[in-house]
Amino acid sequence: MLAIIGGTGITSLEGLIIERRQVVYTPYGAPSGPVVHGIYNGKSLIFLPRHGYDHRIPPHQINYRANLWCLHHVGVTNILAFAAVGGIHPEMKATDLVIPHQLIDYTYGRFHTFFENDPESSLNQPVTHIDFTDPYCQTLRERLIQTAKQIGLSIHEQGVYAATQGPRLETIAEINKLEKDGCDMVGMTGMPEAALARELEMCYASCAIIANPAAGRGSPTITMAEVEANLKIGVTKARQLLAAVIETF
Ligand code: HPA
Repeated sequence: MLAIIGGTGITSLEGLIIERRQVVYTPYGAPSGPVVHGIYNGKSLIFLPRHGYDHRIPPHQINYRANLWCLHHVGVTNILAFAAVGGIHPEMKATDLVIPHQLIDYTYGRFHTFFENDPESSLNQPVTHIDFTDPYCQTLRERLIQTAKQIGLSIHEQGVYAATQGPRLETIAEINKLEKDGCDMVGMTGMPEAALARELEMCYASCAIIANPAAGRGSPTITMAEVEANLKIGVTKARQLLAAVIETF
């Protein structure tokens, strides 16, 4: 079963025929909202917006563990996560789509693993180190890239995602540092989401939507109006990609 995690700009899926909403209780607390079971372009899928249905949960307060545990619990095997980002690489322009292939995690203070030693809990497990050489599921990435080609949608086939803590945007110096580190785009929600999906052995890929040039790369200040206008166009492309890729499931 495929799940879509919606990001900024995708708190609902236009065209999704909703069959039922399921409230899931998890050992980690509440997910961002009930999971929606529905039909999109003739195929079953599950939808969960990570910022909540009313877009009120900021990146650092998202209960990533509850979200991922809940998707796993309802039978999800593949996750396509949409995420708004700032573009750092000069070729990654506002409204473009990117299928990241690598990431660097700059977040802190988030619950980033299911593997915690809690002797009181049934979740107690031996020490486990997941392989994260390729943080995104190559099979799903390839499916997205091939689908985009088939429908003639121009996307960036790879890129390095920087996950920052937020909720504030970055300084110019921070973006310069990220660029030196090899990052092509910057967002606030990619981690620990990707790692938690891997811990639960779910195939996870992301489609990043460039909402703005990162700090110092575009207009002197980044306005929410700019972000919203770009996202509107980017989300239209993302929906095209989703409608086509879902046919391959
Ligand atoms: N930085 C971090 N996260 C973002 C940005 C950005 O410029 N734009 C959208 N999400």
